[in-house]
Parts: sequence; structure tokens; C-alpha cells
Amino acid sequence: MNKLIVSLLLTVGISGIAHAAGDATAGQAKAAVCGACHGPDGNSMAPNFPKLAGQGERYLNKQLVDIKSGKRTVLEMTGLLTNLSDQDLADIAAYYSTQKGSVGAADPKIVARGEALFRGGDLAKGLPSCTGCHAPDGKGNAAAGFPHLGGQHAQYIAKQLTDFRKEEGGRTNDGDTKTMQTIAKRLSDEDIAAVSSYIQGLH
Ligand code: HEC
Ligand code: HEC
Repeated sequence: MNKLIVSLLLTVGISGIAHAAGDATAGQAKAAVCGACHGPDGNSMAPNFPKLAGQGERYLNKQLVDIKSGKRTVLEMTGLLTNLSDQDLADIAAYYSTQKGSVGAADPKIVARGEALFRGGDLAKGLPSCTGCHAPDGKGNAAAGFPHLGGQHAQYIAKQLTDFRKEEGGRTNDGDTKTMQTIAKRLSDEDIAAVSSYIQGLH
């Protein structure tokens, strides 16, 4: 009886992993064209191109599916995903998730405000802390699909928060709960600058 339950659990567990996981080795070759902007190992140099290294596999896969379908607009990537299959996207997500993400530095002038927002939110504005979902060290929650933010370019983070905040033409692929759209609408320009700078140095 116990053995049966154990073997059932193992079967479910293993097939669950096999279904979700891509092949990182295959993904590396498929990601060759992406390196021009995102860096060969996923640590991009330009602050408007997001780092992908060390990002959660589930989050990466979701973004790739959303960008391919047009649910999230990335003009720079127009046509790049058209000929990639679901398996290709899963493999690429697996590849970047196994790379080590680099960390930048925060601007000392605004880091205190950024840290207070990230760790404590702002009760008066009904703003939750970011740590609840993105973790105190910014690593996110890979299994839940909450993205890793720590070390990401501040310019990219600020653009995402500004896009989530837009009434029209912004980023709307954060699911039915619109969690990030709701949160971003409670952030001022100064809040966005401060929390983005803090995130760039967070690890
Ligand atoms: C010409 C430059 C360029 C190339 C080539 C490119 N990307 Fe991108 N990518 C971008 C930009 C710019 C963004 C962010 C757009 C924005 O500000 O929302 C982005 C965003 C992403 C994101 C979302 C990251 C996040 O944190 O949400 C993923 C995943 C991604 N790219 C994967 C890829 C893959 C895989 C390839 C290769 C098949 C690729 N990109 C090729 C420019 C590029
Ligand atoms: C209740 C959970 C939750 C909270 C709290 C939360 N986030 Fe998020 N955040 C998410 C999820 C989920 C996503 C991914 C949305 C998607 O699938 O596109 C996300 C995405 C993001 C992104 C885009 C990352 C990328 O690589 O493009 C940024 C930036 C971000 N959050 C910043 C913040 C900041 C700053 C705070 C605090 C002020 C915060 N989040 C609070 C759940 C949360």
C-alpha cells in the first residue's frame, strides 16, 4: 500500500517535471540569435535590454509565449519567435534559467526610498511590499512564476513599471488579476526611479 502510494507520487512528480521542463543544452543553440541583445549568457550590457540569466523558467516561458502571440508587444523582437515551436521556447527558457545573473549597483542618493518601498510598500497608498511575491533578496518565486528582479537593469525595470501603469498601449499581460497594473498605478515617477535603482543593486 505504502509502496503503491510512493510509486504513484513518483510517477506524477516525474511526469510533471518532464512536461514542464525544457532542455537547457538544446536551448543554448536555439538562443544564439538572442545573444546580440540579451548577451550570450543572458547578461545583457545595454540597460534597455533585460537580463535573462537566472530568471525563473516558468516566467521566461510565459513571456516568450506572450511575446510570440502578441499579448505582450516587444517591437525589437518582431518576427524572431515566429518559427519557434513551444518546445523551442521551453528549451530557451530552460537555458537562461540555468545561467548566473549578474548584479549592478544602486544609486546611493535614492536607494533608501527604494528599499523602503520594496520592503515595506506604502500603507497610505495601499501599496503592498514587493517582497511578498518577489522575495526579500529579489529572487522571486520560480515555481509560482513570480519573476526574479534582483540585479536587473534599472532602466528596464522602470520601463516595465511605467508600461504597467499606462492606461493605453502599455503592458497588460500580468493575468486576470492585473496585479502589476494595479500596483504600478500606485507608484509615482519618483517611486519608480527609486525602487528600480534599488532593484538593480539587489541580490
Ligand atoms: C534586437 C534586440 C533583441 C533581440 C535580438 C531579442 N530580444 Fe528579447 N527583448 C528585447 C527587448 C528590448 C525586450 C524588452 C522590451 C520591453 O521593454 O518590454 C526584450 C524582452 C525579452 C523577454 C522578456 C524578459 C522579461 O524579464 O520579462 C524575453 C524572455 C526575451 N526578450 C527573450 C528573447 C529571446 C529568447 C530572443 C531570441 C529568440 C530574443 N529575446 C531576442 C530585445 C531583443
Ligand atoms: C502579489 C504578487 C506581486 C507583488 C506584491 C508584486 N509583484 Fe511584481 N510581478 C508579479 C507577477 C506575477 C509578475 C509577472 C507578470 C507577468 O506574468 O507578466 C510581476 C512582474 C513584475 C515586473 C516585470 C519583471 C520583468 O522582468 O519584466 C516588475 C518590474 C515588478 N513585478 C516589480 C514589482 C515591484 C516594484 C513591486 C512592489 C512595489 C511588485 N512588483 C510587487 C507579482 C507581484
